[in-house]
Formats: sequence, C-alpha cells, structure tokens
Amino acid sequence: MVRLCALEDIADPGALELSWGEGDWPLSLFVVRRGSEVYGYVNRCPHAGHELNLRPNDFLTREGDLIMCRSHGAQFRIDDGFCVAGPCPETSLDTLEIDVIDGVVCADPKELDRLVAAAQSRR
Ligand code: FES
Repeated sequence: MVRLCALEDIADPGALELSWGEGDWPLSLFVVRRGSEVYGYVNRCPHAGHELNLRPNDFLTREGDLIMCRSHGAQFRIDDGFCVAGPCPETSLDTLEIDVIDGVVCADPKELDRLVAAAQSRR
C-alpha cells in the first residue's frame, strides 16, 4: 500500500484532489471523506471525459451529500460513484479502492498503475 494523504488532510465532509504518476500527464484522482470513511475516484466524468472540478478540491454539492461535475452538473453517489442525476445516467465514476490505516489514506500501487494505463489508453 502507498500513502496518498492523511485522513485529517480531507475536510469532513469534503474532498481532496490528488495525482499519481510521473511526466506530463499524471493521473488526477480525488478522495471524498464522510467521517472515518474515505472513497477514491478517478477525476474523469463519464459524460464527456472532463475533470469534475473547476476549483481545487471542489467536488461535492453545496449540501456535501453528492459528488458533482462542474461541467454539466452530473451528480454521483459518494459511496459508489453511481450517477443519480445529469446527462450520463446509468454510468459511474472509475473507483479506486481506499484503505485508511492508522489515520493514513492508502491505496494499492498496482491498482493506481492500472488506472494510469487505462487513462493513457484513452488519449
Ligand atoms: S463532463 Fe461531467 S457532466 Fe458533462
């Protein structure tokens, strides 16, 4: 497992943008916190492939109860990334499995590398 950030680095509720990989096109990711639970997603909207946020760490609705894409307003459940409103129904964000170990937010480096490869294959 690799360290992504500390749990306390993420607002509650809130989100934190991260990147993984080297070079000109590191993979953009974000993690969403609800209490002690953290969910990880690739920062790519299934509607048109845009990054979801326009401002740093701005991934949630005003109420903090859903993930929201700022391009055309798609909304996704926090716990599984499933689209519940907007222009891409029946789709989901690409998930990254997250573990929180002693207050440290971690992910499997092989899974991160797999997501990087998938993103590169779309370019
Ligand atoms: S790119 Fe996200 S709603 Fe269109």
